[in-house]
Amino acid sequence: MNIEVGHRPIVKSLLWPNENATRDFAVALANAPALRDAFIELQGELGAGKTTLVRHLLRALGVPGRVKSPTYAVVEPYELADRNLNVWHFDFYRFSDPREWEDAGFRDIFASSGLKLAEWPQKAAGFLPRADLIIHLEAVTEASRQVTLTAQTTLGQALLQAVSRDPPVPEIQGGQDQPRDRP
Ligand SMILES: Nc1ncnc2c1ncn2[C@@H]1O[C@H](COP(=O)(O)OP(=O)(O)O)[C@@H](O)[C@H]1O
Ligand SMILES: [Mg+2]
Repeated sequence: MNIEVGHRPIVKSLLWPNENATRDFAVALANAPALRDAFIELQGELGAGKTTLVRHLLRALGVPGRVKSPTYAVVEPYELADRNLNVWHFDFYRFSDPREWEDAGFRDIFASSGLKLAEWPQKAAGFLPRADLIIHLEAVTEASRQVTLTAQTTLGQALLQAVSRDPPVPEIQGGQDQPRDRP
């Protein structure tokens, strides 16, 4: 296993009450300088909001028009000339052939600089490098999402810090007397 020496994962929990909160988070993430070379895994069941978060993020980064879901193509590339930034949005749901990793150039993508976002990373486990940040989403109600952020590298920590600043996202709804950390 590829564990960075002297670095423990840092975990942060959030509750997004509605999709506006998802969008606000995406905007904060888009403004984080560390995002440029990050690898972020999006985890959670079907309908948890992984693609929706990526759509808000890509829009915040300036991608015009409709943002496609890469479910069939496995990867959707974006070249943001204004920001001099390459972004790759992966959905590994249908990834099964290990040869595809080489043949489709995925190895080269992960070796080059730019932002990599991956839904269903567990389907490509063993190929993917260690993610800087894991965003785990879980639907609580139709509109609210329980979110767990796990920073696994120094770059991931910088991202966590960036999204923890202005505007603050409430960790727990209602009542200030509740403990911030839940088991
Ligand atoms: N707070 C929220 N964050 C993200 N998506 C939300 C939220 N509230 C409702 N939704 C809806 O949930 C659905 C999530 O679908 P999608 O993003 O495709 O999920 P996934 O990619 O995880 O399978 C979308 O229809 C989206 O509009
Ligand atoms: Mg999806």
